[in-house]
Amino acid sequence: MIDVKEIRKHFKIYEKYPDLCYLDSAASALKLKEVVDSEVNYLNYNGTNVHRGVYKLSYDATNSYEETREVVAKFLNAKSDEIVFTRGCSDALNMFATSYGLNFLKKGDEIISSELEHHSSQMPWLNVSQKTGATIKYIPLENDQITIQNFKKVLTKNTKIVALTHVSNVLGYITPLKEIIKLAHEVGAIVIVDAAQSIPHMKVDVKELDCDALAFSAHKMMGPTGVGVLYAKKKLLNLMPPRDFGGDMAEDVYLDHMTYKDAPYKFETGTPMISEVIALKEAIKFLDNVGLDNIYNHEKYLRDLAIKGLKEIPNVIIYNEDCPTGIISFNIKGTHPHDAASVYDNNNICLRAGHHCAELVMHHLNVIGTLRASFYIYNDEEDVKKFIEATKEASEFFKMFMED
Ligand code: ALA
Repeated sequence: MIDVKEIRKHFKIYEKYPDLCYLDSAASALKLKEVVDSEVNYLNYNGTNVHRGVYKLSYDATNSYEETREVVAKFLNAKSDEIVFTRGCSDALNMFATSYGLNFLKKGDEIISSELEHHSSQMPWLNVSQKTGATIKYIPLENDQITIQNFKKVLTKNTKIVALTHVSNVLGYITPLKEIIKLAHEVGAIVIVDAAQSIPHMKVDVKELDCDALAFSAHKMMGPTGVGVLYAKKKLLNLMPPRDFGGDMAEDVYLDHMTYKDAPYKFETGTPMISEVIALKEAIKFLDNVGLDNIYNHEKYLRDLAIKGLKEIPNVIIYNEDCPTGIISFNIKGTHPHDAASVYDNNNICLRAGHHCAELVMHHLNVIGTLRASFYIYNDEEDVKKFIEATKEASEFFKMFMED
């Protein structure tokens, strides 16, 4: 069970806005006090660079930075040299597609994607496909979901890459990755997972999944902005060339040749996101303390409560009534989601409206956008109540625009 009152003590924003109803955690989670304190502590009392200084302050910064690598590795059940710090989930997904995809794919090869992908999970592979001549194929969705049966329809002996979301950022459905990965491996394909929407909300074990690579952002898990993680199996990281070149990743540099460090360092070019990486471990410690199973169940409870309320309101279209995670996508009939969003804003409720950087999902649903409420650890029943009241108001207000 989650004691939301206790949880909220870890977020200073609730001191300033005690009535905050924040339902946009799928876009970015609120930031933990411990995370902010950790960043400020480094910035105020250290501020030196990592991996370079031959003095105590720099050693301290390096140790704290590298400690996060250990914490992330443990969190994922990976090894620390399989963890690359990036500037976010999008950066990690792009890094993998650029480094692996552009260098190892060729005409005749096939990439499997889906219409549930966030732009950052599909566009880098569309680019790889356009540059290399590899073909990109999409899993036909069944009830708006990825199924093993339909995955088999697009899997061939030419499949080289499977790039899929773990949890859809619009519809919240969980991809049956374990079975998909097993099938992909049988034809020799490698699987990269966009875990932006799963890592903050459920236990993810990369060894158990057996994914080849996986990416996520810190800011969606109450951590700092500007930092993400690319996990990849060590043999893959060894194979992949660096995407970027420059300081810190270099080993020996001459006029006509160069060598660089081993993975993961060959992928971390220039001065990294030091305060952000250092602070990321505080978010992970917090998630571990509360327990990801508790978090998952809490969100599911709130979501089910909200769905029950929404279903009683006329003219509400719910797109993912049966999804098992804390995301609800819906619309008010005949109303542009941006117009409807103004009613929530007037009620001091933060939720997202639009295409959610997932236009393929919008095309699939045949809508221009949706409203999206997403729940997290600091939400409670009172938030659900406010959300339902505001939806009633929106439904009432916009009913004049509704079609018969
Ligand atoms: N990808 C983020 C979202 O779903 C920004 O809102």
